[in-house]
Amino acid sequence: MPERSREQLGGRRRPWLVVSSLLCTAVAIDGAIAAPECVGGTLRQAADQAGVLVGAAAGSGSIANDALYAETLAAEFSSLTAEGEMKWDHLQREPGVWNFAGADALMAFAEANEMAVRGHTLVWNQRFVDSTPDWVEELTDPTTLRAAMAEHIGMVVGRYAGRVDSWDVVNEPLKTGRSVIWENHFYDVLGIDYIAEAFVLAHAADPSALLFLNEVGISTANARFDAFYQLVVELLEQDVPIHGVGFQGHFFTGVTDPAALEQNLRAFSDLGLVVEITELDIPLVTPDETPENLAIQAQDYANVVSACLAVERCTRVTMWGLTDRHSWINGFLGDGFEPLLLDEEYQPKPAYESFRSTLLVPEPAAPVLRIAGLFVVALMVRRPRSTRPLRL
Ligand code: XIL
Repeated sequence: MPERSREQLGGRRRPWLVVSSLLCTAVAIDGAIAAPECVGGTLRQAADQAGVLVGAAAGSGSIANDALYAETLAAEFSSLTAEGEMKWDHLQREPGVWNFAGADALMAFAEANEMAVRGHTLVWNQRFVDSTPDWVEELTDPTTLRAAMAEHIGMVVGRYAGRVDSWDVVNEPLKTGRSVIWENHFYDVLGIDYIAEAFVLAHAADPSALLFLNEVGISTANARFDAFYQLVVELLEQDVPIHGVGFQGHFFTGVTDPAALEQNLRAFSDLGLVVEITELDIPLVTPDETPENLAIQAQDYANVVSACLAVERCTRVTMWGLTDRHSWINGFLGDGFEPLLLDEEYQPKPAYESFRSTLLVPEPAAPVLRIAGLFVVALMVRRPRSTRPLRL
């Protein structure tokens, strides 16, 4: 399995970023020189500085019909996920009838705005909510279902080869709401090997794409996490081309255990896999936009971002939607839970600021770099400011 990390995704721990963080600290100490990336700026700029990608799920209709939506998306985010338009039931609702218009438009928008693109998702089947068209659920012969899967994955991944950097190959292999149940149409017909087969097909269609298993409810220490972890270990042992694990991050009741989130991210990072938060939203604890609730939400967001930054191979945090007006939670939980970073009028909420400022906190550098940093600080403090303009 190729070992890849955030460096290959334009990720962090690049030397100039460490220097930039040190300079940020240095000017704070010196107190007299402004450093633009230490104050103000967009989420995207803050994420660049932290060396991670910050993404949002979006739709081509909103981009086409709402200039503010398009402008905000490109300004604030460095990565884009199709909220629905790269799913099977959208791309191939009937066998052999393809609809790439929305996905192509999203791809073009991302490229025009130099945003990375996550592909979401190739195989997702649940009893509850999923993206499998009815005609696929009617295929009960293993050979026919396998052929449909091969056709779909080959066509979709092939079309965007070299442009979509990462694919959620299989979404939610565990049944939602239960601890450990492998049960869906693909599992019933093909057995657990449907997962490995999907990864092999995706890898053949685009060997350069990072391939993810994406799951919800794996952010705490429990039997569900253990079963999911075991599955990933087995896939690696079988040399299945899996490169990453996506933690969806639909934290319906608030993030109560950031230490467990970090530990679970680290468990996969320690296996050499990339990890990402792929679908983050944090509804208010009660559907009531009080300052107290907004403050709890802001802290939850800071906790999630810190957990990602603490883990070497955590490369991207993706918000599931642009503003509270556009969130799927409005349909899922009802109105008033205001789960995202921007409010319905596109205004930043306390959560936006805590997300952004958490990205801007410089990481503790390795000891040798810290010593080098102190040396830089000493030089800057000693030199007369007028003869040494600082360009950050
Ligand atoms: C949701 C979309 O946000 C909705 O617009 C759509 O109706 C259903 O799917 N987990 C996932 C996402 O992996 O694909 C889901 O997205 C949200 C839950």
